[in-house]
Amino acid sequence: MGALSKRAAGAALMDENITLFACPICQESIGVFEQGRLVCSSNHSFDIAKQGYINMLTHGAISKYSKELFESRKAVIDSGIYDLVEDKIGELIANAETVLDTGCGEGSHLARIMAKKQGIGIGIDIAKEGILAAARHYPEQIWCVGDLAKSPFARSSFDAILNILSPANYEEFKRLLTQNGCVVKVVPQSGYLHELRAQLYADSTKESYSNEQIVARFKDSFADVSVERITYTVPLATELVPALLEMTPMGWHKKEEANIHLEEITIDVDVLVGRV
Ligand SMILES: C[S@@+](CC[C@H](N)C(=O)[O-])C[C@H]1O[C@@H](n2cnc3c(N)ncnc32)[C@H](O)[C@@H]1O
Ligand SMILES: [Zn+2]
Repeated sequence: MGALSKRAAGAALMDENITLFACPICQESIGVFEQGRLVCSSNHSFDIAKQGYINMLTHGAISKYSKELFESRKAVIDSGIYDLVEDKIGELIANAETVLDTGCGEGSHLARIMAKKQGIGIGIDIAKEGILAAARHYPEQIWCVGDLAKSPFARSSFDAILNILSPANYEEFKRLLTQNGCVVKVVPQSGYLHELRAQLYADSTKESYSNEQIVARFKDSFADVSVERITYTVPLATELVPALLEMTPMGWHKKEEANIHLEEITIDVDVLVGRV
């Protein structure tokens, strides 16, 4: 697909789903204009990029996530180590027609989940590099650069809102949910990637991790909450070790890759489901 046609294809997909959008500045309804822009009724205008995504960020943003980090996340997710988590999410949102992934990064989780079900997926992330990668690889979904706390979407629009290893804004999520909609949030549990952390922090307290506060805030924010823990250990191909190191944000001190030996890796997460 050429550059121009990717923009047109993105514009067409947005047009088909335009009622999901609202202007992030004035909250008015919005329409596709000349296949190149979204324009609201007060004339605020947002460009559709030639790669087919839309930029609706209303303020500058500094991302701590680089292009390399998103490429590494894609390689690691593509290897299938999160498959059981994605399958669980797919089950939980089986009937959802409209799905928003908040903090979607490079989009692989959303694309892989939507590939197995009906409906439209929209991914939003504040990092342009993530959305660029998502639009490049997964043109079947809608990709949007934006702030999940001030999102460019209309009230009561989404049957499911995903929030995977990302920051959240529950007031905004509740505004966006349809009446019977749900938020599915994935947070790491104590064993998450523990083989890696054990080697990185051989003698440090950073080795253990608690998500207690995050879970407590989630429970306070929704009337109806369920929590399911998913724990498993999978083999990890040696060539993925550098990508696994790269995909973790700064603060995880990087040792020489040569000193890290991993044959398997543990995924240990809580999957929280909240309804209003
Ligand atoms: C650890 S990454 C997880 C990405 C993806 N969900 C995954 O599991 O691979 C966290 C993501 O949240 C995004 N993010 C952080 N603050 C955000 C905000 N205010 N609005 C939208 N995205 C945000 C970051 O840019 C980053 O892509
Ligand atoms: Zn507007």
